[in-house]
Formats: sequence, structure tokens, C-alpha cells
Amino acid sequence: MIRATRVRTPVAAFLVINSSKIRVDPTGPRAGPSGPGLRVHPPGRPGGSRVQEVGTRNRPILGRVRVRVHGQRAGSGAGRGSQWKPPPLPADPDPKLMITGGAKLSGHVPISGSKNSALSVLAATLCCSGSSKLTNVPNLSDTRTMASILGSLGAQIEFSGNDVIVNSDRVGSVEPDAALVGDIRGGFFVVGPLLGRFGEAVVALPGGCDIGARPVDIYIRGLRALGAVVEVRENKVVAHAANGKGLVGGKFRLDYPSVGATETLMMAACLAEGKTLLSNVAREPEIYDLACFLMKSGAQVEGVGSDKICIYGNNRLHGTEYGLMPDRIETGTFILAAAITRSSISLSPVFPNWLSSLIDKLLYAGCKITHNHDTLELSSSKEELRGFDIRTLPYPGFPTDLQPQTMALLSTCNGLSIVQESVFENRMTHVKELEKLGAKIQVCGSTALIYGLEKGNKLSGTRVVAADLRGGVSLVLAGLAAEGITEVNGLSHIDRGYENLETKLRLLGARVERLDFV
Ligand code: EPU
Repeated sequence: MIRATRVRTPVAAFLVINSSKIRVDPTGPRAGPSGPGLRVHPPGRPGGSRVQEVGTRNRPILGRVRVRVHGQRAGSGAGRGSQWKPPPLPADPDPKLMITGGAKLSGHVPISGSKNSALSVLAATLCCSGSSKLTNVPNLSDTRTMASILGSLGAQIEFSGNDVIVNSDRVGSVEPDAALVGDIRGGFFVVGPLLGRFGEAVVALPGGCDIGARPVDIYIRGLRALGAVVEVRENKVVAHAANGKGLVGGKFRLDYPSVGATETLMMAACLAEGKTLLSNVAREPEIYDLACFLMKSGAQVEGVGSDKICIYGNNRLHGTEYGLMPDRIETGTFILAAAITRSSISLSPVFPNWLSSLIDKLLYAGCKITHNHDTLELSSSKEELRGFDIRTLPYPGFPTDLQPQTMALLSTCNGLSIVQESVFENRMTHVKELEKLGAKIQVCGSTALIYGLEKGNKLSGTRVVAADLRGGVSLVLAGLAAEGITEVNGLSHIDRGYENLETKLRLLGARVERLDFV
């Protein structure tokens, strides 16, 4: 556990982290590495497509490509009749977001269904006979990958807008496509329903954002407690029911309240014979959403929201129709987008209790937040916001999935802020990219000191690269607040988790274009 305390002396400030002392430089850390900078091209027309010579600094012209520009046309509402000019085209041919910073946001943003709920509930449809209809499913690369994983087992899937119908009656395989499972963490969740339903499963070790080691030891010990024999062979988890028939209920205490392990064991327990008691479980709202789906499908689940869940197993659940909860991390991201641009926006549907750890910090910083039914309004008209400290923790603590976006905001606030990441050991890769935009950050292990900007100073646009989903979107937020143009690369990471990100930002008045090279 990391313990950090501020210690001030008349001449210097220190931070004591796990009994070692770091000097806090009042002028901020040494200047971070600066980005390669944008090569300036004459501006073109927004919208439509144009032919562009592409190159890099070292190789000025690599070739000519046709560029599809997804953005507002001149004079559209988002530009608000201002002096907005289209940004220059970038120097290399990967899709990217071009953000012209400095626009105030206003208006309303509709929040999509929860990505992480969608992943576990899609896996849970394997527990059901007949068809399950899920509504409010965000159309994202991760949810499409999850659907393909179910398809690789033999399930029939129909996508129509944000509705997905899954019928897993014809599932005949217990081994999902390993490459697909290797792409997303949620792919591994199918091990629970497969073992529960067929008494065996062979599932590749999962992928997902590169934010830490992310082992599956808790899942494995939990499945063993439900009567499974589990081994890891050649990067695959190979499991079967010890009695040769099926899982049996049991008692299991998780060493850590892992979200994915809690969800996987809940699904397995629904199909195990008898009663299962899981303790020290995760309490994230997505666990509640999964439990609601399972109960609507006929499961008996008690205690959700506390640290103990009791499940009375059943042979097979039945198909149902279920609407997923709104995405609380997307909500938090848009709230932080309004705060970093010192703007006022409203969002719905939102359940503010799920974000109280963020809301409390933003109130302290100087933002105004109100809510009425399921609509939340954030107003951050003051240019100067106070910095604050956060430590990520399992729910109801501060969500790790909002840490990078919060760090982007803190880099524009007054004074020293401290961010401690205690859930994942490698969730700081956005720091060096934020530094390219002018943020002053000093990292010591899983703790970052954010020095804020001197009065009147702003972040400044440049070329940055997303290395993971939430770190990537933190760069988008920083770009909205920066002076000039920010080019965000590595969009495949961001597309995993944000439905229509740039369309929603443009609705709020942000100047964001996606460039696809076709
Ligand atoms: N852990 C173990 N052993 C295990 C399982 C987890 O050591 O068997 C550790 C992990 O290495 C990590 C900590 O426990 O250090 C927390 O991991 P957890 O299992 O709770 O996370 P997850 O289920 O892999 C889900 C979300 C993440 C979100 C975390 C924490 C999904 C698909 N992913 O991951 O979402 O950060 O819970 O809230 O539900 C994201 O959306 O960007 C994202 C990464």
C-alpha cells in the first residue's frame, strides 16, 4: 500500500511516499521531452476528402493519399461563426484526431450504454436458453470483438443499432477463438458460463489495455472452489468439472475485489449445483448490472452491492430482454472535458451516486455541479480551479478508469496535486504524452506529482500518441484545453471504449476532426 503525506519546511516541500522522501520542486519537474511538432501544411476544406502529400520530418514526402475528413463544415454550429480554420493535415497516414483547442463547450451530451457491463452481460448470455435481447449496447470495437467471441463458440448474434440479440442454443464449442480473446480482457469471462454449462472450457489468457500484469489467478482459485480442475497450458486455461458432470456451489473469498473475477464467478455459480457464497467481491455498478441481467434471466442472486454475494445455482437460465446501464466512465470523461475547458454542459442519463468520488473532488476544485432526475449539469466558468489529490481504489473509491483524464485536468489547475494509482501497476503511460503538451508531472512509481500551470499559461498543442484507452482519451481532453492544434494518434485504443467520441464532442462545440486515410 502506498502512503503519501506532504511535508513542508520553510525552504522546500517534500513528499513522503512509503517512507522515502522526494523533494517537490516548486518550479515543477525538469522540462519533459518535447514532441516532434507538427509539419504545417496549408489548410484545406473541412469535411469531404482531399489529396495530401504525406511524410515525416526525416522523410518529407512518402506518397500521396486521399484523406477523408470527418468534421464540421465551415459555418456549422460547432464552429459558432468564429474564426475557426481547419487544422493542417498531419505528417503520417494513420487515422488521427485533429483538435483545435480553446473552444468552450456547451449543450447536452447523451451518454451511451456501459462498455464494461456490455462485455460481462454478453458473456452471460451463454448461461441462457433461447434468445437474449440486450438494448443500449454501445457500438464499439470491444463489444463487436466480444460478439465475435460468442460467434466463435457457435452463438448466433444479430446487431441492429444498439440492440443485440444473442441465441446461444447452438453453442457446441468450449474453446473460443484465442486471437479474439487475446484482444480484450472481457473475452476471458466466458470461462465461467462455459464451465457451468458444459463442465469444461479451454480459454486463452486474455488481452486488454496494457496497464499492468493483469493475471487471472483469482479467477482460477475461485473456479477451483466451485469444483473445477484448472490448469494453465500453453497460454490457455484448461478446465473441467472434477466430478465429470458440472460445477458445484462452494465458498470462496477473493484476495482482492477483482471486477472480472467477481463477474466470472457469479456466472459460473448461477449454473453450479447448490449455494455459492462469494466474499470480498467487487462492488462496482457493473456488477449490479450483471446481477440484474442474471436475475431477470431466472437466477437467484443476493447481496449485490455489499462485499458478499450469495447465489443459488440453477440448471440453465432463460432468455430475456435487458437494457444496459449508462457508461459511468464515459460520463466522468465528459464531465472532465467540461472542467478542463472551463465550460458548462449537461449530461444524461447519469446516476450521480456512481461518480460521487469524482464529483466531490470537482466541487472542491471550484466547479458547480447540480443534478435533476437523471440529468447532471457541470459548470466550470472560473478560469482557475484548485488542484486536488486522488488515489484510485475499487468502487466506491476513485475509479482507476478516470485517473488519466483527471490527471489531464489537474495539469491545468492551480498548485501541486498528487495522483496515486493503486489498482494497476502500469497506468502512467499518458504522462510522457501529457508532458509533450506542456504538463508538468513528476512520476515516482505509481505516484505522480502534477504541478499545475502558472497563472495565464496554457497547455500547447502538438503530436501525441495514445497507448491505451483511458490514457488516450486523457490526451483528447488535454488537446481540447491546449492552445493550437493537437494531433492524437493511436485511435484504435480510444475506439475500444468511446462511442462516437468526436461526434459528441462536436455537438458540444469542440473543434475535432477525425482523419481517416483511405
Ligand atoms: N488481479 C489479480 N488477479 C486476478 C484478477 C485481477 O491480481 O485474478 C488484479 C489486476 O492485475 C489489477 C487488479 O486486480 O491490478 C484489478 O483488476 P480487476 O480484475 O478488478 O480488473 P478487470 O476485471 O481486469 C475491469 C474493467 C477495467 C477496469 C477494472 C477496475 C472490464 C472489461 N474491465 O477490469 O476497465 O479498469 O475492472 O475497475 O470490465 C477500461 O474500461 O479501460 C478498463 C481497463
